[in-house]
Amino acid sequence: MKDKKTVRSGIVGAGFSASFHFEAIGKVYGTNVEVVGVHALEGAQQYAARRGIEVFDSLDAMLDQVDVVHVCTTASSHEEVAIAALKRDKFAIVEKPLTGYFGDGSDDFDGETFPKADALSHALASIKRMLAAEQESKAKILYAENWVYAPAIQKEREILEKTGAQILFIHGEEAHSGSHAYTYGYWKFSGGGVMIGKGCHPLGAALYLKAVEGRARDGKPILPAAVSARTHAITRMPNFRDEGHIRSDYHDIDDMSLMHVVFTDGTVADIFASDIVLGGIHNWLEVAANNHRTVCNINPNTAMQTYNAAEENFKDIYVVEKIGSKQGWSNPSPDEDWFTGYPQEIEAFYRAATLGEPVESDSRLAANTISTIYNAYVSAEKAGAEVAIETF
Ligand SMILES: NC(=O)c1ccc[n+]([C@@H]2O[C@H](COP(=O)([O-])OP(=O)(O)OC[C@H]3O[C@@H](n4cnc5c(N)ncnc54)[C@H](O)[C@@H]3O)[C@@H](O)[C@H]2O)c1
Repeated sequence: MKDKKTVRSGIVGAGFSASFHFEAIGKVYGTNVEVVGVHALEGAQQYAARRGIEVFDSLDAMLDQVDVVHVCTTASSHEEVAIAALKRDKFAIVEKPLTGYFGDGSDDFDGETFPKADALSHALASIKRMLAAEQESKAKILYAENWVYAPAIQKEREILEKTGAQILFIHGEEAHSGSHAYTYGYWKFSGGGVMIGKGCHPLGAALYLKAVEGRARDGKPILPAAVSARTHAITRMPNFRDEGHIRSDYHDIDDMSLMHVVFTDGTVADIFASDIVLGGIHNWLEVAANNHRTVCNINPNTAMQTYNAAEENFKDIYVVEKIGSKQGWSNPSPDEDWFTGYPQEIEAFYRAATLGEPVESDSRLAANTISTIYNAYVSAEKAGAEVAIETF
């Protein structure tokens, strides 16, 4: 085997996603990755000390030292950080959502009441700035949509490519009992509510699979054409009976959403996203095709089933994300990151950066995901009227 290339990388952000990115980098086998350091507004010292890496006070100083940056910051800064990297020909691994609209800069910006057509035009402008920066750069945007790399979705890709299947209907869901990040509750940081924060995952996978189908049969992707959507803020209803199991301090965002997407070939996808579901995260995608049907269970799945007689027994044992109780029957994930696609996406991104291999989850998929979601917010504002989607 030829000598592996060595790449120097840096992390921007020091929170939840910065942690699983670092874990995944540790599993990269095709490239020698040297993580030089971290730059973050908050938490950098602690993050760096735990991992034995340097802290950079400025992004620019870190960019001097690295070839790849992991953009693990709050969504409102993805554009700024990614463009700074691309301008210096550094690859930008950008967490979801790629970008969006984060208000007018006022502290009291209210995500509920401003016109969603404004959000759409600002988000499309942001996408275009990022795509233009990529076009001018020697490097690329690598869109960290882990669902694309989840083994179940990649197996479905193989089925589509080898059988020439036509997908007739996709339904999928990402559901949690709330997000851990404080900023997630504010449109001005997150660019929307659960429809973007969680919905981008199953939507991204659905758009990816329809693109795969089109490329396999006709050499060009099948794209989303129109969307109808509803959003709700269930935990902010005055009659929500809070028993403390579901996060309920959201400021101006939706916590339950549904997108109905019609593709250019007339086939459809229904994507649910919510933050009001107990019993562990519920992430799945079902494909109904003309020659097969697939259910991708990302989390939970039945790779392992355990009965635990007493809660106390499992006090030091991680079972699966956001499960409420460990007593009784549960589905512990023997390798949750693997089922979720984290190590696979990071491996693929380093192969793209060092060997020029094409990526499955690229800026075009990211752009079409964001465009679909902001058009969905326009539709939701009109109580579900269909809206045509601009695609890239
Ligand atoms: N793919 C997934 O499964 C997944 C899971 C969680 C979060 N995410 C995404 O990761 C991103 C970050 O979320 P998180 O949960 O890690 O948030 P977090 O709040 O845990 O951490 C955010 C970090 O970014 C830093 N930061 C914010 N703006 C910055 C800027 N301009 N420059 C430098 N540092 C900045 C903060 O100081 C903090 O250290 C979000 O886009 C989120 O949607 C993805």
